[in-house]
Amino acid sequence: MLEVIENIRQEFNTFPVDSLEDLEKFRLRFLSRNGLMNELFEQFKGVGPDQKKQFGQTINQLKNQLEGQYQSWKLEFDEKSSASSDADWDFTLPPLPEQIGSRHPLTIVREQMLSIFERMGFNLSEGPEIEDDWHNFSALNFPLNHPAREMQDTFFVEKNPDVVLRTHTSSVQIRVMERQKPPIRTISPGRVYRNEAISARAHCMFHQIEGLYVNKEVSFAELKQTLYHFVREMFGQEVKIRFRPSFFPFTEPSAEIDISCIICKGQGCNVCKQSGWVEIGGAGMLDPNVLSNCKIDPTEYSGFAFGMGIERITMLKYQVRDLRLYTENDVRFLRQFRGL
Ligand code: PHE
Repeated sequence: MLEVIENIRQEFNTFPVDSLEDLEKFRLRFLSRNGLMNELFEQFKGVGPDQKKQFGQTINQLKNQLEGQYQSWKLEFDEKSSASSDADWDFTLPPLPEQIGSRHPLTIVREQMLSIFERMGFNLSEGPEIEDDWHNFSALNFPLNHPAREMQDTFFVEKNPDVVLRTHTSSVQIRVMERQKPPIRTISPGRVYRNEAISARAHCMFHQIEGLYVNKEVSFAELKQTLYHFVREMFGQEVKIRFRPSFFPFTEPSAEIDISCIICKGQGCNVCKQSGWVEIGGAGMLDPNVLSNCKIDPTEYSGFAFGMGIERITMLKYQVRDLRLYTENDVRFLRQFRGL
């Protein structure tokens, strides 16, 4: 047995390894499944118990030596081959342009909208997305159990129906009126939630901008002019606006706001369903009950409010056909807004 070990050591000491191919031959000869070391271990099984210890140690030493040498050769050759591929690099080539992110289209449009209203003297107000019934409904003149609450499919917290995910940012306007005396001119952007199936035109989460103006003798004409100015700044001077009578519990009279279709310029297309008009939001004169709920005297003050969806405005402005694109994080979509 000692002789066999000695022969292997001899062969190892004289084995020429000058390349990766040699190294592979080395591995096959000594360390592979059918190599000399495994053969040796097979023989070792037949050794008597009194000699086990002595041979065992020697064989293990040899094995460690072979494997150590194999690893260090391998490292050496790997380093050599990566060094040689460095030589293929051309360091004088200009670098690839760095991929930088872009702002989300909804962020871009929200800021455009806010800046238009800020120029008209509106300030910014924000409030919680998790609301209580009072701020989301009751203070806004939705009577308890009134069917008007169904206009907005609401996410309630099962254990406590007083807690809702806000369905509109009108809740923020209540908070502002509760703590501030008129005149008030404020704009409330934010995320809102409705229990709707997700499709190209509806989502259970979207963004609104709502506006509120409270002062002495506020007129419907001022509301119209404010919105007219907004749509012309946003979409261009040639866009038309119209008000359709509607109903909201918190405003009286109430209207839905349409603008002439940006895509077909009022000719009729599938975005405006051939009508030439698209709806962009709701508006109206504040119901006196809402003012009283916020401890503002409705005989002294009046006001108007309006609300719009940022997704809808962005769809029209940048011709986005499917609002699911906003939340899918597809860079091919997002990249198109780079630089805006
Ligand atoms: N809060 C209404 C909605 O989300 C929109 C609106 C705001 C309508 C203000 C009228 C006045 O549907």
